[in-house]
Amino acid sequence: MTTPADTHSSGAISNELFRQMAYNEKMAELGRISAGVVHELNAPLSVITSAAQMILREDEVPEFVREMVGRINSEAHRLSQLTRGLLNFSSHDDIGGESDVNLTIDFVLEFIKFEAAQRGVTVSRRLDHSLPMIGINNNSLKQILLNIIMNALQAMETDGGTLLVETSAPPDNRVCIKITDSGPGMTETTLSKIFEPYFTTKKPGEGTGLGLFVTRTLVEQDGGSIVVASRADVGTCFTILFDAAA
Ligand SMILES: Nc1ncnc2c1ncn2[C@@H]1O[C@H](COP(=O)(O)OP(=O)(O)O)[C@@H](O)[C@H]1O
Ligand SMILES: [Mg+2]
Repeated sequence: MTTPADTHSSGAISNELFRQMAYNEKMAELGRISAGVVHELNAPLSVITSAAQMILREDEVPEFVREMVGRINSEAHRLSQLTRGLLNFSSHDDIGGESDVNLTIDFVLEFIKFEAAQRGVTVSRRLDHSLPMIGINNNSLKQILLNIIMNALQAMETDGGTLLVETSAPPDNRVCIKITDSGPGMTETTLSKIFEPYFTTKKPGEGTGLGLFVTRTLVEQDGGSIVVASRADVGTCFTILFDAAA
């Protein structure tokens, strides 16, 4: 039997759903626009690097000019690496393939460097360089890592803290990724809900509550598993396990 309260709450849910859909749509639109901007940046950046390299090849360049042009060259090179990374990441090439876990971690940590620095968070990595490849699409793995790491940075706000990313190869031909933060941790109730779609403790506009739902779906789609341990005032640790690629 439907009561007026039920009618009211289902109305509220569909409004909330609509708000979320509109927000997701806006983010998708922003993503498309920034992919365009990034693409436009590549042409002038390659002109800058090749002009700088031409100057550096000249014999009679004063040492000071050589040093300044060298800086222009390396900064332009860094920017074009970054834009290439953004373009790869925003592509829709999200099925199939294998991933090098350590390389992907390096990419994501480079990507969030600025966010971490702004919050005074020290990021470190302890990577096992004997890891086998895993059978998951590289863009999916980037999204998984980015969701977990951005949550950790957001939880630490601007109070500083540490973020540690570790990899290891347990004996049963698997790959383990551990992401540990020294943030505020979660209560038991929050912890039991974090993988539910639309569960968020953030203000409207700051969180969609979809990050960890998407993360878990992506991990499990490729036969992996994800668990989380958290203690209030100590921090949070996500552990992900994947099988090595066949
Ligand atoms: N590292 C973390 N430390 C503390 N709380 C976390 C952490 N990661 C996730 N959470 C909690 O899980 C909730 C759900 O995360 P998520 O699904 O990514 O959605 P959103 O980030 O949009 O809120 C967050 O709102 C937060 O309460
Ligand atoms: Mg999130």
